[in-house]
Amino acid sequence: MPNKIALFSAKPYDKTYFEQFRHEFDCQVDYFEVPLTEQNVQLCQGGYDAVCVFVNDTVNQAVLSQLSEFGCNIVALRCAGFNNVDLQAAENLNIRVCRVPSYSPEAVAEHTVGLMLTLSRKFHKAYNRVKEDNFSLNGLLGFNLFKKTVGIIGTGKIGHATINILKGFGCNILAFDPTETPIDDVAYVSLETLYKQADIISLHCPLTPQTHHLINQDSLALMREGVMIVNTSRGGLIDTDAMIKGLKARKIGYLGLDVYEQEANLFFEDLSNEIIDDDVFQRLLTFPNVLITGHQGFFTQEALTAIAQTTLGNIQLLNNQQDCLNQIKPS
Ligand code: NAI
Repeated sequence: MPNKIALFSAKPYDKTYFEQFRHEFDCQVDYFEVPLTEQNVQLCQGGYDAVCVFVNDTVNQAVLSQLSEFGCNIVALRCAGFNNVDLQAAENLNIRVCRVPSYSPEAVAEHTVGLMLTLSRKFHKAYNRVKEDNFSLNGLLGFNLFKKTVGIIGTGKIGHATINILKGFGCNILAFDPTETPIDDVAYVSLETLYKQADIISLHCPLTPQTHHLINQDSLALMREGVMIVNTSRGGLIDTDAMIKGLKARKIGYLGLDVYEQEANLFFEDLSNEIIDDDVFQRLLTFPNVLITGHQGFFTQEALTAIAQTTLGNIQLLNNQQDCLNQIKPS
């Protein structure tokens, strides 16, 4: 019998990549466009071995209890972050949880540096201008990344890949991570020193109770005037209201976001014909020095291939009661 998987928040590109590899792993995949929530967990009643979820699906105690009742004992995240899963509740219910810890750190790192370059060199504005035969350079003045000090918070796989790229630009790198891994030409410093000395701050740590709103009014007060802040990690790392105040006060010179605290209500959907109710998000969009992408850091061909293969492999191992290195448990 093939492993039966209910894949939530399914997009056409998920289907393309999972269909490409599912035979290799002897799986049947049913694709549900809706996100997994307490309201629609009923969809998992069809004898599924696993649910496959993404960053904004709800995997809380209530959802997990229902899954357990339906005999579905595997939650396979097709992403690296797992802040949306109640791991303790899963363990209590004997539900095993796995993720894809490293599908392509370079995909996110390259997107991060893309945000930095677009903010500093204003590619997005230049593109529109030239399209309209406007070749004026007024307002497009940028700055060199060469010799700038970049503060990297979180030097795991993505942080490290970002550092490797930035070293090529000739940046000075400061880093903060509770677990210090020696990296050539990188100085680990306290968070306070990083905030005070960095021209650009880039976030690459997971969202945990300790890192929630790490970037807030107090941390902002320590930063340089005109600092660039880039977040491609998780929206909850940043207190968005504090960012808006910092932008209005001209303290923040540039803000690049691929993630947003309340993104679950917005991202991954075409809302171009809808009224957006989120006034905070709408305010962010009004600033000329804010660049937002809709959680697309992971979105490369290489990453989607690795995500599909690793997720299906994880499910196969767990369903066969074999050890799975990508299984996650409560700390
Ligand atoms: P990783 O686990 O390799 O590295 C995370 C690092 O953060 C570790 O070195 C850890 O020690 C450090 N860390 C933990 N607590 C910290 C704290 N309080 N302050 C500073 N550092 C701390 O994870 P990886 O693969 O580098 O991913 C990082 C994050 O990127 C993920 O948690 C996820 O939220 C996000 N992500 C975003 C994607 C996107 O499409 N925008 C795609 C993939 C991941």
